[in-house]
This record gives sequence, C-alpha cells and structure tokens, in this order.
Amino acid sequence: MTTLSIIKADTGGFVGHSSVHPDMLAAASEALREAIGDGLLIDGHASSCGDDISLIMTHEHGPDAEPVHSFAWHLFGQTTTIAKRLGLYGAGQDLLSDAFSGNLRGMGPGYAELEFTERPSEPVICFLADKTEPGAWNLPLYKMFADPFNTAGLVIDSKMHAGFSFEVYDLYEEKRIVFDAPAQLYDLLMYIGAPARYVVHSVHSKTLGEQAAATSTQRLSLIAGKYVGKDDPVMIVRAQSGLPAVGEVLEPFAFPYSVAGCMRGSHHAPIMPVSIAQAHPARFDGPPRIVALGFQIKDGKLVGPRDLFDDPSFDRARAQANEMMDYLRRHGPFEPHRLALEDLEYTTMRQLEERLADRWEAMAPVAVRQ
Ligand code: F6R
Ligand code: MG
Ligand code: MG
Repeated sequence: MTTLSIIKADTGGFVGHSSVHPDMLAAASEALREAIGDGLLIDGHASSCGDDISLIMTHEHGPDAEPVHSFAWHLFGQTTTIAKRLGLYGAGQDLLSDAFSGNLRGMGPGYAELEFTERPSEPVICFLADKTEPGAWNLPLYKMFADPFNTAGLVIDSKMHAGFSFEVYDLYEEKRIVFDAPAQLYDLLMYIGAPARYVVHSVHSKTLGEQAAATSTQRLSLIAGKYVGKDDPVMIVRAQSGLPAVGEVLEPFAFPYSVAGCMRGSHHAPIMPVSIAQAHPARFDGPPRIVALGFQIKDGKLVGPRDLFDDPSFDRARAQANEMMDYLRRHGPFEPHRLALEDLEYTTMRQLEERLADRWEAMAPVAVRQ
C-alpha cells in the first residue's frame, strides 16, 4: 500500500500573509530530498499556496504515522527558524505546541492523507488553498462525486453509476457520519451546506470500494481556543477509471463560489483557481486562492506536478472572481461580505459589550391590547 500525505503549515509570510519566502521552500525541498535518501519517504515535493508550505509526500507508513508527522514537524521548525532570521511575518504561526508528541493532530499543521493500492495508472490531484477554511471543499466535492450536471460519469459510466459515500465531520462536537449518495443527497446537503461546522472528510466509491478523496479538517481557531489564522485546507482527489475524470474533478472550480476567509478570516469572498505563479493573495488579503497540482504516481514516485489551473479555460472563473470581489468589497463592514457575528475570526464585540453595557437602555414593553 502507498500513502499520499499532504502536510501543510504557515510558518511565516513574505510579505505579510501573502506568500512563502523562496529560502523556506528551498529548505523544505532539501529536507525532502534527505528524507527520500534516508528511506523515510518514497518521494516528496514541496509547494506553496499563499503563506502556507505544503509537503506532498509518498511513503509506506500509512496515515497518522509518527515518523512522517515528526519529520514534517521538525521541517516546519527549520522553516520557522529561517522566517525568524529574515523577520518574516507571523514566523511559526501554525506551530501551536512546543514539542512534538506522536502525531500532528491538534498541533497546528493541517494534513490530508490517503492510503491506497496503486492502480496500473494512478492520476491524483493535490489541491492547496489559502485564506479559507476546510469546509471550502464541500461544494466542489459534492459536484465532483454527486452532481451529474458536473460529472457525466455518474450517469454514463457503469463503474460510477452506483454513486459514492461521503464521510462528514461535525467540527464543533467531534463526531462523524457517513451519507450515501445519491440515496441520501438531501440529508447530505442539509449538513454540508453549512461548511463552517460540517466538513466532508473523505469520499469512497461504492462500486470500487476505493477511497477517492481526503481533506484536511482541523479548525485551527478552535484548536487554539483563539484566532491563530485560517486553516487554509488541502485535499487529495484520485481520478479516472471509475472515479471522476481529471476534467470532472476540476470542473467545479470554473465557478468561483463564495467561501469564508479572506481578510482577517472574517469575510465572504470568491475562491479563485490560479496557477502556482499567481497563488499570492494580495487584494484585501484575497481573493482566496486554490491551486491544483496533478501527479501520476508510479511505484510510489510522484511524476509531476502539472499546474492544472495554468489554463486559459479558467480565465473566466478568475475574471468572475474579480467582479464578485468588486461587488462584495463595496459592502465594506456589512454582511454578507463580513461574516455573521458568531463566525468572525477577529472581533471587538466582547469588549464593546462590556464597555457599552450601561449605555444600552431597556425599552418599556409594548402593552398588549386585549
Ligand atoms: C487571513 C489572514 C490575514 C490576516 C490579516 C491581519 O487568514 O491571515 O488576512 O488576518 O492580514 O493580520 P494581523 O492581525 O497579523 O496583522
Ligand atoms: Mg499567515
Ligand atoms: Mg495561509
């Protein structure tokens, strides 16, 4: 069995929260080369979207494996040291603990991991996002694996016609449920339409019995008990031969749907599919970006990446995202641009409530006529 792991963290931004410094990426690539040489990893590729470094790794240790998570943790320690030396912004911001213990759960870095037996040809797409939250994958996963208007294979491919099952996490109460699509589509949508709380964690093919998708699901703000940065999720999707084709996996991103994130993690904004070269959110710390790195996996080796949104067929989505950004920005501090009070990552409301408590006057109840 091969495991594909993406482990990511923001260990310092260049400039502000917009990008990763090339020295940090170079250090990550060097550490990956050493880990391949030492036999820990089969292969590895370091990439970034916005201010987050992603380590895309193949190995045989399975998900949640101590040696792989420990390697990533220490690598992020090294990139933090570089960030501190260069005075980069928010150095080490996602490393929430002083010491590593066992695996990365609850420690700050995000990860998506998928274990599988390699098919004769194994196309996978690694999605990296910045300035948004894990629930941002709910809408595209629904379209890829449950919407026949997106994925023709659900109707005309006999290996897909039985549908897929969606594993959904409740991030507030730490519980999970599995929905069967298409039979339980409406139940599924009731939950995943609320992506701040309910997040698709994995998708499985009912016909092949194979896991097709895995997402990262930490809510960093909740883990830390205070705001420390948006979670900036990653996702792995396997494609073709009874799973959605590469083009069906990418199709949902032709629509720049609205996500929570952007400035101070507290605004709705369109998600913009971009090439690696354009994955540096600047305007209003946005719009939130997503990149898609395609690989063929052969004997565990990562053949690639192909920068899949580096394609003029996504120009319209980018133009539309800019239009949406203009429209939403004109709302300034008003909803629905600004998130609802309970979803704000930054707020002054508690202080205001205390300071203004005695200025609020109770109003006399309105007499009810008999
Ligand atoms: C959003 C994000 C940025 C920061 C913003 C303010 O996920 O990281 O939008 O929230 O730049 O940052 P501070 O408070 O560090 O000045
Ligand atoms: Mg940052
Ligand atoms: Mg980020």
